Amino acid sequence: MNKITIVGAGRVGESTAQFIAAKNLSREIVLLDIHKGAAQGAALDIQEVSPLFCYDTRLIGGVDHRLMADSEIIIITAGLPRKPGMSRSDVLASNIPIMDSVIDGAMQYAPDAILLFVTNPVDVITYFAFNKTGWPRNRIFGQAGVLDSSRMASFIAMETGFSSMDIDTMVLGGHGDTMVPMLRYCTISGIPVEHFIEKDKLDAIVERTRVGGAEILGLRQISSAYDAPAASVAEMVDAIAHNRHRILPTVCLLDGEYSQHDIAIGVPAVLGQSGMESIIELPMNADEQAMFNHSAELVRKDLAMLKTM
Ligand code: LAC
Repeated sequence: MNKITIVGAGRVGESTAQFIAAKNLSREIVLLDIHKGAAQGAALDIQEVSPLFCYDTRLIGGVDHRLMADSEIIIITAGLPRKPGMSRSDVLASNIPIMDSVIDGAMQYAPDAILLFVTNPVDVITYFAFNKTGWPRNRIFGQAGVLDSSRMASFIAMETGFSSMDIDTMVLGGHGDTMVPMLRYCTISGIPVEHFIEKDKLDAIVERTRVGGAEILGLRQISSAYDAPAASVAEMVDAIAHNRHRILPTVCLLDGEYSQHDIAIGVPAVLGQSGMESIIELPMNADEQAMFNHSAELVRKDLAMLKTM
């Protein structure tokens, strides 16, 4: 790509810039932050890695929304992170005004960009952006399921001792404690995961995945996860930049898929150069559909809160 902007030069934004640069995915990366020095410092620090990691990406940091101009992808990580004990929904009220201003900037200076949301609660923020911009849904989506699936695959690798490269997982639904790990579709080298792990241990892995973000926050106290979230964003950007048509769990606007309308939530989607190219509708059994519907209900609670703002 020629230009990617990352809004928010906090830990997630900075790590995202580092991973995207290290993968040589863009000629230019702009880091924007309300703290000018933070954005400029992060950009310069990552620029100084370039001779060591062999990339030619130019990094620029600043505060001015005009720096978004001509971005092909804008990744939004800005906003308040949750503190220990808070849910992702608890930061909604603080983050909506920040998103409002960022999206205004994107609409003004990069009206053809793909917007990739990371800020929490990501399902609600993605929905908000879709409504505000009126842009087609292929250009407005969010990251959640790649991270949740990567966490789950890591736990399966830790449990079995097998290479995480051979582990395929798929976590759908809202990015919260009711997310829907699709065990039926989890495999190790194509072999159903149940062949290797007993049910009670699998249940524990599912539970650990659901609270994976809180586990890291609880350990660090002063910061949420940022390495795995940033690597997950870079994975989605890689699929877009290389037009790979990868199937990745993505926070998408649903229009009847999975029997849901007027909501953004995690489903398997095809990512390529035009962004979210299509949604894959997996057959769900009654239990899975019930879990998905429950997860959607909780996202809808936040959407109802959004309407009162
Ligand atoms: C997490 C935050 C980033 O899951 O939502 O770690």
